[in-house]
Amino acid sequence: MSQLNLGVFVSGGGTNLQAIIDACEGGRIEATVTVVISDREKSYALERARSHGILAYHVPVGKSDSPEFAAADRRHVELLREHNVDLVCLAGYMRLIGPNMFAAYPEAMLNIHPALLPSFPGTHGPEDAAEYGVKVAGCTVHFAWPEFDTGPIIIQAAVPVLPDDGDSLAARILKQEHKIYPQAIQWYAEGRLHIEGRCVILEDARPPTIMEAIISPGLEI
Ligand code: GRF
Repeated sequence: MSQLNLGVFVSGGGTNLQAIIDACEGGRIEATVTVVISDREKSYALERARSHGILAYHVPVGKSDSPEFAAADRRHVELLREHNVDLVCLAGYMRLIGPNMFAAYPEAMLNIHPALLPSFPGTHGPEDAAEYGVKVAGCTVHFAWPEFDTGPIIIQAAVPVLPDDGDSLAARILKQEHKIYPQAIQWYAEGRLHIEGRCVILEDARPPTIMEAIISPGLEI
């Protein structure tokens, strides 16, 4: 199986990017990050990419109905084609993706979100979950559709919400993100993901890790 070329979009610190790079370099996934793109010049994720010899670009985006946004959308496709990208990975990319991108990469764009979609979409998944008072939170990798945080779900990890969690919930969710994103990419590389309507079928799927349910708070009877 030939290596999958990945184009990764980032806006922030890039710990998911790092997890993907490490999985590629460690041979755990049959893929290579060939280009990294950020809407923020100071995004630490760009430095992570450059420290691994990966070409990294800052592409300013502007408001979603502006000429700058349309230009960025064209530039994104241009850069991805230039670097022979097969699969686009949105990894903490906090901007809308443009129509040219969806036309150029149909069913070839993944996103990670720090909540159990469809619950708590948007930019504050863990905080919204904790505030709502759910007992189980988590994260999701899904195929990206034009509407934010929608699209067929590939893999989710559930994380119990602990009393007085505060910021540690987001940190515990992020730890699981770093496991499920490389896994989703490897399944994509193996051609084992099939979209049927809004569902994803994984060929020869293993039983869930942790067979039994997560029950939070713990049972006492
Ligand atoms: C992650 O929690 C991701 O799910 C969300 O933004 C955060 C980015 O973290 N969309 P990082 O930049 O990968 O560290």
